[in-house]
Amino acid sequence: MRNKSRSILLIVVVIGIVLALLAWAISLVLNRSGDPEAKMTQAITPELVSKGEYLARAGDCVACHTRRGGKPFAGGLGIESPIGTLYSTNITPDEKTGIGGWTYGEFERAVRRGINHDGSALYPAMPFPSYARVTDEDMEALYAYFMQGVAPIEQANQVNDVPWPLSIRWPLAYWRTFFSPSPESAAQSLAAAAEASHEQIARGAYLVQGLGHCGSCHTPRALTMQEKGLDESSAAYLSGSELNGWAVPSIRGMAHWSQDELVDYLGTGRNAKASVAGEMTDVIANSTSHMSDEDLHAMAAYLKSLSAEQPSKGGSERSEATASKLTAATDLSLGERLYLDNCNACHFVSGKGAPRVFPQLDGASVINAANPTALIHVILAGAQTPSTARAPAVLPMPGFAYRMNDEEVAELATFLRQGWSNDAAAVTAAQVHDVRQSLAHGHGQAKTTIEPSQGER
Ligand code: HEC
Ligand code: HEC
Ligand code: HEC
Repeated sequence: MRNKSRSILLIVVVIGIVLALLAWAISLVLNRSGDPEAKMTQAITPELVSKGEYLARAGDCVACHTRRGGKPFAGGLGIESPIGTLYSTNITPDEKTGIGGWTYGEFERAVRRGINHDGSALYPAMPFPSYARVTDEDMEALYAYFMQGVAPIEQANQVNDVPWPLSIRWPLAYWRTFFSPSPESAAQSLAAAAEASHEQIARGAYLVQGLGHCGSCHTPRALTMQEKGLDESSAAYLSGSELNGWAVPSIRGMAHWSQDELVDYLGTGRNAKASVAGEMTDVIANSTSHMSDEDLHAMAAYLKSLSAEQPSKGGSERSEATASKLTAATDLSLGERLYLDNCNACHFVSGKGAPRVFPQLDGASVINAANPTALIHVILAGAQTPSTARAPAVLPMPGFAYRMNDEEVAELATFLRQGWSNDAAAVTAAQVHDVRQSLAHGHGQAKTTIEPSQGER
């Protein structure tokens, strides 16, 4: 797959050259290169620094700019991409190895425009197409925090593991011109959307589209790696994607949860119906659980304002049929029997679990996802809700890799995907085998993988 991706990228490079002159002309017209000499307009005060700290949480800068077990913001985390492993950089204010010597203008160009301080283009693994939406005021607060609120760490940047000629950076400048909005145009579209909507929803849109960069995982990507939409003007925006084979659900509309349930989930990693697993666990632990109730309500209100496909009806009768069959416990299929023996104690015959403790399996996104990898992963390896200030207790789900073989896990997962109101394709033993192999090989050294959406590989 990787070779195929490389050849696709090579083609992209060639197309990039063909379009070079055109893009150069466009970028001149748009004059979006920013001003590295730009100065702060506000004085750096302790209030501005702590505002910047809050915004850095909202932007989850620490997630990518810290390697496992490393010092905060000192970089070095490997991020897999189709062209090779990219390493995040040291963004502590160390003069020698970090960004200590950077002007405000250089910082602003990197974060909102994807231009490094030497003028070279950054890989969009740094989510600058989303950060383009951050206001000047908030950019200044972020700069104040990174210069004065973060401890300087001396740690040299690691060279990216990308082979030549894909390592040539200039084609990225064209990618940026085509696919990343300029802060000026992003500000215009946010202002237009704000005029048309409620103040709370406008604040939510600003956080979700901008610092929250929720679309970098929740929006499907095109072949050329850009997200297929950066705001509600596209129906693909936040409509679900895939990450390391883990299904990332659509978060448009969120009709199956109330606004309070959404706030509860973003603030604590759990709510009456679900518990978080997979990459979203870190998003909640590092970012959303530190945000104010007011901002979480704004984000939830915005997600609920997005139109989504209606969930299918007639599920409740099927839910009851499954619950009665499990209660009667006669003529059970292998999958049903395995469920009663291993899962029932916590998730119950109703599949409804217990509010805020054991998540609901009836209707859960992870169970109904087209790709069953995340579900298989949870059954084999278990999962853990993060400990957050709002809900410090850690609730583990045990793993069953040693108790069940591949056929048994496949039968169980198939039952889960077709029991109650759930409606998804059967799982095969071969699919379970693949997930078991990747778990055995210590899958996940590099934390994040960005892949084009499924239909286009
Ligand atoms: C999804 C991962 C991710 C997130 C989130 C992220 N970054 Fe980055 N960032 C990267 C990567 C990867 C690079 C290096 C890109 C390259 O080599 O072209 C980078 C580069 C940078 C650079 C320029 C390069 C340098 O020498 O330091 C700055 C400045 C920066 N990021 C700041 C931030 C700030 C501030 C935030 C939070 C608002 C943030 N980043 C959030 C992945 C991320
Ligand atoms: C690093 C990738 C990533 C980012 C960034 C991310 N998410 Fe998620 N999100 C996921 C994954 C993976 C899941 C599925 C979790 C599971 O299987 O339990 C998820 C699940 C969710 C859910 C639960 C949906 C459901 O029906 O169960 C919500 C709500 C959500 N995310 C909101 C957000 C918001 C809001 C943001 C931005 C602040 C965000 N996410 C950013 C990866 C991400
Ligand atoms: C000891 C109690 C317990 C048992 C037994 C148990 N679970 Fe869980 N399960 C949990 C808890 C707690 C979570 C939430 C953990 C998390 O994701 O943070 C969970 C989460 C899950 C999830 C993820 C739900 C979501 O929305 O992300 C699935 C799927 C699941 N369990 C299926 C099963 C299956 C199948 C079995 C039987 C093989 C089982 N569980 C047995 C406690 C249990």
